[in-house]
Amino acid sequence: PVKVTKICCIGAGYVGGPTCAVIALKCPHITVTIVDLNQARVDAWNSPDFKLPIYEPGLEEVVREARGRNLFFSTDVDKGILEADLIFVSVNTPTKKSGVGAGFAADLNYVELATRRIAQVATSSKIVVEKSTVPCRTAESMRTILEANSKPNCHFDILSNPEFLAEGTAITDLFAPDRVLIGSLQTPEGISACASLTEVYANWVPKDRILNVGLWSSELSKLAANAMLAQRISSINALSAICEATGANIDEVAHAIGYDTRIGPKFLKASVGFGGSCFQKDILNLVYLSESLHLPEVAAYWRQVVEMNEHQKRRFSKRVVDTMFNTITGKRIAVLGFAFKADTGDTRESAAITLIRDFQSEKAYVNVYDPQVVEEQIWTDLAEASPLVPEEQIKKQVRICKSAMEACKDAEAVVIATEWKEFNEINWEEVYQSMNKPAFVFDGRLLVDAEKLRNIGFKVVTIGRP
Ligand code: NAD
Ligand code: UDX
Repeated sequence: PVKVTKICCIGAGYVGGPTCAVIALKCPHITVTIVDLNQARVDAWNSPDFKLPIYEPGLEEVVREARGRNLFFSTDVDKGILEADLIFVSVNTPTKKSGVGAGFAADLNYVELATRRIAQVATSSKIVVEKSTVPCRTAESMRTILEANSKPNCHFDILSNPEFLAEGTAITDLFAPDRVLIGSLQTPEGISACASLTEVYANWVPKDRILNVGLWSSELSKLAANAMLAQRISSINALSAICEATGANIDEVAHAIGYDTRIGPKFLKASVGFGGSCFQKDILNLVYLSESLHLPEVAAYWRQVVEMNEHQKRRFSKRVVDTMFNTITGKRIAVLGFAFKADTGDTRESAAITLIRDFQSEKAYVNVYDPQVVEEQIWTDLAEASPLVPEEQIKKQVRICKSAMEACKDAEAVVIATEWKEFNEINWEEVYQSMNKPAFVFDGRLLVDAEKLRNIGFKVVTIGRP
C-alpha cells in the first residue's frame, strides 16, 4: 500500500474542516491541506485570532495546534490536488431543488465538479475518498468520470469513507469514533488503497474499530445509520403524542424502554422535531433510491419518518396556539434557541425556523435569542421559510435579542426550541417578573424543571406530558 504523506480535502465545511484538522493533529507526519472555493470561509479558517467559520467545542484548540505546522487552508484547489496522494471529497450534497428527483434526490453536482477537477489536474495516481454522504453507487460514477478524463499513467482508486460525527460533539466523536468505515472494491488495488487509508486512521483509532467493507455497503451504511437514528426520534416523538393524550410521561416511557439492552437508552429524547443538515436529506435520498429501485413500499416506510417529524413540529405550534386561548395574534413570544441542537451555530433544518414561521403566520410577535447563531443567518433562514412575506414584514414581527432575559421581557410565552445548557441556568423568578401574565413556558426539549417553574407561577407545557 502507498504510504500517505500528503492529504488534500476538498470542502472546508462542517465535515471537511473538523475531520481533516483532527487528522493533521493526530498525524504530524502527514501534510493536510483543506481547500475550498469559498474565499470567506477559507479566510475565517486562517483568521489570526481563530474566528473559525464554524462553532464546535474543542475545534479551536485543534486548529491552534496544527495550523501552520502540517495543517493548511487554501483556495488553491488545483495545487492541493496536484500535491496530494490521497484526496477527500467532502463537498455538500444537498437535496435537489429542481429537475428530476427534486425534493428527494441528492444534488451530486458539487461532487461531480470536484471529481472532474481532480481528473483534469492530477498528474500522478491518487486515492480518491468519498467523504460526502452520497447515494449508493456514486463511487461508480466517480470512477467513470476519473477514468474518462485522466492523463496517461494516472490511476485512481476510489474509497468510500462516510463521516459519522455529530455536530456539537464533532471533536470528541473524531477523537474516539465508535467506528471508522472504509469501503473499497474487493480487488487487489481496492484492498491496497483501503490499507493506506486504514494506516492513517490507525494513528489514533484502535484497529478493531476500523471496519473494511465493500464499496456499496459503505455508501449504503451511511444512509442506513442516519435513517435508523432519525427513525428512533420519530418513534419517540410519535409516542410523545400518545403521552400527551393519555397522561403517560414520555421521559418515563423512554427511560423504561431504554433499559432493555436491545433498545438502549441513547437517542430517545422526545423533541420538537429533529433538524440538522443530514437526517431529512439522507432519508429523502433513501426514499428516492428505493423508488428508483421500484420498491415503493420501502420508500413509503422511510418517508413516514420525515412525515412524522413534520407532524411533530406542526403539533407543537398548534399546542402553543391552543393553550394560549386559541389565539396568539398580537402576542409576544420569546423563542429560546435557533440552532438545530445545542453546542452548534448551525441552523440547517432547525425546528425553530418552522415554529417562528408558524407564529408569524398567526400574527404574533417573536423575540428570538440563540447564544451562537449569528443575526444575519436568522434573517436569511426566516426569509427563506416565508418566501411570500416581504422582508420588512418579517423584521416588523421578529426581533433578535442579545440574551434570554431580553427575549423574555414583556412576552406572554417562552418557547424552548434548542436545549442550550444556559437555558437551564436562567433566573426564572426574574423572567417571571418581567413577563405578561399568565406567563407560559412551552418546553420543546424536555429541558426545564416543570414543577419548579409551576411553583414560581408559570403555566408550563412540556412535550410528551399532558
Ligand atoms: P458544508 O456545506 O458545510 O461544506 C461543503 C463545502 O464544500 C463548502 O464550503 C463549499 O464551498 C465546498 N465546495 C463545494 N464544491 C466545491 C468544489 N468543487 N471545490 C471546492 N470546494 C467546494 O457541508 P458539510 O456539512 O461539511 O457536509 C459535507 C458532506 O458531508 C455532505 O455530503 C454531508 O451530507 C456530509 N455529512 C455532514 C455531516 C454534518 O454533520 N454536517 C455529518 C456527516 C456527513
Ligand atoms: C447526525 C448523526 O447523529 C451523525 O452520526 C451524522 O454523521 C450526521 O447526522 P447531527 O445532525 O449533527 O448528526 O446531530 P444529532 O445529534 O444526530 O441530532 C440531530 C437532530 O435530532 C437534532 O435536531 C437533535 O436535537 C435531534 N434529537 C437527537 C432529538 O430530538 N432527540 C434525540 O434523542 C437525539
